[in-house]
This record gives sequence, structure tokens and C-alpha cells, in this order.
Amino acid sequence: MRFVEVPPSWPAIVRIVAGAGEREVAEFLDAGELGEIMALRAVERRHERAASRIAAKSLAIDCGLVDRASRIRFTKSDARPVVMIDDVENALHVSFSHTAGIGAAALSERPVGIDLEHERTIDRRATKFFLSSEQLASATASTLDNALLHWWCAKEAAFKQSGEHPTLLRIPLTLERETPSGLVLRGPRNSRVETARLTDDVVVALAVEP
Ligand SMILES: CC(C)(COP(=O)(O)OP(=O)(O)OC[C@H]1O[C@@H](n2cnc3c(N)ncnc32)[C@H](O)[C@@H]1OP(=O)(O)O)[C@@H](O)C(=O)NCCC(=O)NCCS
Repeated sequence: MRFVEVPPSWPAIVRIVAGAGEREVAEFLDAGELGEIMALRAVERRHERAASRIAAKSLAIDCGLVDRASRIRFTKSDARPVVMIDDVENALHVSFSHTAGIGAAALSERPVGIDLEHERTIDRRATKFFLSSEQLASATASTLDNALLHWWCAKEAAFKQSGEHPTLLRIPLTLERETPSGLVLRGPRNSRVETARLTDDVVVALAVEP
């Protein structure tokens, strides 16, 4: 198992795990969690789900939130993930994302959203489903490689963070600046949304409320 390096300037609330093996699965996940994972049909999805949960649990231990993995687990409320510590719902916010066999988690006292997207071409005709005309103009003017994918990824992260917009199209996002590997945007409830290239073929976005 390895931790995929996240942009060094990002807050230490993100962990991304690749290649989790049987040893780590046994170390971090209990029988109930394993049962939920095994209920997923696709084998790759099982690996990714295990990786995202190991990411969140190992982060919680390293932050000093819990002293062992068995004390923290994750449930859902209206599809949104919820943190449980010692079987009691906790006020911390958590977000998960998966792609290409890797799993990511973000854990924060503030509402947070994380998203991973595998490299692909987004058909310009599909942009009307997720970008306003101003946002499309911003993306079109970008010098970034595959800027549309960065915008999609930013929208998904902001969707998970905000919880109050029914579709990606409705998510307010304004570009503040570009970095060599991504975008810095202002999102819902004044959140800071950043995208970056994680690997040659994966883009990551993080949305955090101030
Ligand atoms: C929910 C959604 C954000 C998931 O994103 P995805 O890229 O398919 O999958 P990811 O692996 O990145 O994220 C999955 C995780 O999102 C989380 N999630 C699901 N619904 C969520 C919600 N409403 N709020 C916050 N997090 C949510 C879950 O934790 C899930 O992981 P888990 O099942 O292991 O717990 C996405 O499917 C979605 O609905 N997007 C917005 C809707 C929309 O406008 N779609 C049309 C655009 S054209």
C-alpha cells in the first residue's frame, strides 16, 4: 500500500491510498465494513472502497482523533458520508472519492468535498449540463491541459462539500487563478476549491469551507 502524494500546499486533511493489500484491509477494517465492501459487485470498486476507508481511518489515527482504526467508521445520511466514533455520530465532516483503483478521503472540522477524476475527454456539448456560460468562458480561456476535466472535478468536490445544490450546473464556482497544475476557485459558501494533477492520468479536487 502507498499514500499518493497530494499537493504539498494543501491542508493536511487529505489522504489518498493506492494498492491496499490484504494485510492493510485486515488491519483497518472490521467484519462489518468488509461485508459492505464485499457486497459491491465490481472487484475494482471493492479495492477502491477499501482504499478510501483505510485512507480516512489512517488519517484519523495520525491526527490523534482515535488511537485505533476500530473506533472510527463511516455511515451515510441521505447519501452523504457521516463520521462515527465509538458508535456515536461525530460533528467532523468526511468526503470520499475513488478512481482507477485508488481511494481518497478528506476529514475536516469544516464541510469538505474531495473528488478524483480519471483522464478523459469531456465532450464540449456536455458542458451545458455542468457549466454556466461564464464558467465555460473561463474554462475555454484556460491554458491548462484538459481544463474541462479540472472544472468537472472542482464541481464534484464542491457538490459534496456544499450539500445544498441539486445539480453540478447549480454549483457556484468562480476562478481566482490558475497554478501550473490546476485551478484555484471560490465555491459555495465561500469555500476554497483547488484542483491539481495527481498523476499523469488522475486529477484531484478539494473543496473546503473557511
Ligand atoms: C454523488 C457524486 C458526487 C459521486 O461522484 P462520483 O465521481 O460518481 O464518485 P466518487 O467516487 O468521486 O464519489 C463517491 C462518494 O461520494 C459520496 N457521496 C455520494 N453522494 C453524496 C452527496 N450527496 N454528498 C456528499 N457526498 C456524497 C459517497 O461517500 C461516495 O462514496 P462511498 O459510496 O464509497 O461512500 C456524483 O455521482 C453526483 O451525483 N454528482 C452530481 C449530480 C449531477 O449534477 N449530475 C449530473 C451532471 S451532468
